Amino acid sequence: MNIDQFNFAGKKAIVRVDFNVPLNENGVVTDETRIKGALPTLKKVLADGGALIMMSHMGKPKGKVKKELSLSQIVKNVSDNLGVEVKFAGDCANADAEVAALKPGEALLLENLRFYPEEEGKPVGVEKGTPEYEEAKKEMKGRQKDFAKKLASYADCYVMDAFGTAHRKHASTAVIADYFDADNKMLGYLMEKEVNAVDNVLNNIKRPFVAIMGGSKVSSKIGIIENLLGKVDKLILCGGMTYTFAKAHGGEIGDSIVELDKLDVALGVEKMAAEKGVELVLGTDSVCCTGYDFKTFSVKEGAQIKVFPSNAIEAGWDGLDAGPESREKFAAAIEGAKTILWNGPAGCFECEEFTPGSRAIGDAIAKATAEGAFSLIGGGDSVACVNKFGLADKVSYISTGGGALLEAIEGKVLPGIAAIKG
Ligand code: 3PG
Repeated sequence: MNIDQFNFAGKKAIVRVDFNVPLNENGVVTDETRIKGALPTLKKVLADGGALIMMSHMGKPKGKVKKELSLSQIVKNVSDNLGVEVKFAGDCANADAEVAALKPGEALLLENLRFYPEEEGKPVGVEKGTPEYEEAKKEMKGRQKDFAKKLASYADCYVMDAFGTAHRKHASTAVIADYFDADNKMLGYLMEKEVNAVDNVLNNIKRPFVAIMGGSKVSSKIGIIENLLGKVDKLILCGGMTYTFAKAHGGEIGDSIVELDKLDVALGVEKMAAEKGVELVLGTDSVCCTGYDFKTFSVKEGAQIKVFPSNAIEAGWDGLDAGPESREKFAAAIEGAKTILWNGPAGCFECEEFTPGSRAIGDAIAKATAEGAFSLIGGGDSVACVNKFGLADKVSYISTGGGALLEAIEGKVLPGIAAIKG
């Protein structure tokens, strides 16, 4: 079913949203992007005269109730954004009374789905690889179905709008769809928008296509990097990954982050890029520091900051951002691009001293976008950069997905979409 053609009047709709939003130590939401992203679908249900039941996870409580991950903390944010007072059901699997009381035009948020292990469907407290684990897994699959059926029993129709979690085959993102017929299950507006954005960079490419991949590890990005090498004209690799590449060529990287068991992977990426005729752009200099506190995102007292060539960093110094020469290289590579994908920052952007690398990338993307490029930004950190630098309205699309976006761009079929579309 298509959400635009569906009339929610008089119906109870259960909507899977991704309200896994960042909270500060006082439980205050620090970024509402995901709440705002879900609004078109939520408002449509209410405007049609439907009763709205929202469900989401937050964090990774691993099947246990954890107060600090309670969705009760975001009820006010959802209410304010939605413009109706949202009610709260403190136990997602025992919400019959709250659901029964829900009238057309009213909204209810269920407590964190992952307080129940059935949501993820993974056995808890049994060691992986043991015969007991296999048994427990089978049993858990059955329990997962029952859990999904319970959630489904609350509503007449199901809307999947949690793009950020669409790469998970969980009770609420996929299994639940089995309990609704094709006319009563659909993707929400956010899913449609995200899928279109991915389509623009995968199947509707205007060239040159430049991708920027940052972040600390080659290992977590290798799947997407390999996939992108078959599509892009230029690939900028920045962030902590830089030092694994520098080390692979025998460079001195001081105390910088490195994956010593991935040096061959880095060389393999370079070889593959050459074979495919992709211009690989790596940083050549780095802003380094002698004492950075990764917990508080600050430079320790008395610590020094200095620029080194990325392959000649002295011991005791840690590469934390792209240097001036690298920044120029990155900006030049982005200039004139017609399709741009950015995932992962160029440095420890949380700290002012190490923002220039990510800022240079953000500015170059904004400039190219103003000149007609389609730019897609995804992943929590790059989205945080774009927001921090005030560039949110200067890029084409900001995805609410991190892992989900990367998997979609790798060309994988997301379970949350497959469950609806078959
Ligand atoms: C995310 O933040 O990427 C999504 O909410 C999915 O969360 P997960 O990685 O814990 O499944």
